[in-house]
Amino acid sequence: MENIMDNSTNKKDIIIEVNNVSRCFNLARERVDSLKEYFVRKVKGNLHFEEFWALKDVSFTVERGDAVGLIGLNGSGKSTMLKVIAGVLKPTEGSARVSGDVAPLIELGAGFDPDLTARENIFLNGALLGHPRSVMQEAYDSIVEFAELREFMDVPVKNFSSGMNSRLAFSIATIGKPDILIVDEVLAVGDSKFQEKCINRIEEMMAKGTTVLFVSHSIRQVEMVCNKVVWLEHGHLKKYGETKEICEEYKSLYKGMDIR
Ligand SMILES: Nc1ncnc2c1ncn2[C@@H]1O[C@H](COP(=O)(O)OP(=O)(O)O)[C@@H](O)[C@H]1O
Ligand SMILES: [Mg+2]
Repeated sequence: MENIMDNSTNKKDIIIEVNNVSRCFNLARERVDSLKEYFVRKVKGNLHFEEFWALKDVSFTVERGDAVGLIGLNGSGKSTMLKVIAGVLKPTEGSARVSGDVAPLIELGAGFDPDLTARENIFLNGALLGHPRSVMQEAYDSIVEFAELREFMDVPVKNFSSGMNSRLAFSIATIGKPDILIVDEVLAVGDSKFQEKCINRIEEMMAKGTTVLFVSHSIRQVEMVCNKVVWLEHGHLKKYGETKEICEEYKSLYKGMDIR
């Protein structure tokens, strides 16, 4: 008799695989006051660095369609982890395998040229995300409308407030249908009405199959958006699991602290 069991339907569709990732930064131990002193010390072998491990042996996998929140106190390694996944930073040890295209919203307006106008930056940023000009032309109106910046398109973005910058960056990064959307504390600067709009858009993208990695200052937003949570502590993976369970434990540990 034929075996009609199809094992592949049971197989998980892993879109991100983080394997034993460690990331070390070399911090200068003593102050060097000039470039000359730096080279003199370097030549003499008299330049001392301290190793600092921002991530240490972190492993987890993300399934297609998951929304994964990264939580942990300031400095716990969340942004470093997201940069490794986005390919912006190389891990010192281990590897991050990503199957799909990533729309990273990491540093506010990191892809913006401050001297160019908002309009020019839309096309520049689109190109950085890999979108042809024609695609950006088509998306232009909806980007401007979502960002609520219609009157400011001819203003150089150096004159924008951080809130305006993030509205524009969010609007650009969320056009199209990236396989993976990374949102690192980008919502913190907008007002609450705009934050709500962003959350709605993230949820729309999830409904269309986009996988989301999400860092927010607000644990409430993480609980709203994410089905899984990675909890980092001093660069180590403390816990990984279902949102409700992990967030309950996190909140009870940091009760009274400003983790909202
Ligand atoms: N480029 C860098 N050089 C040196 N130290 C860094 C660098 N980037 C991050 N760090 C350090 O790594 C640690 C983790 O940082 P980060 O990933 O930004 O944490 P989080 O996003 O959770 O606040 C922090 O102590 C931070 O100071
Ligand atoms: Mg961070």
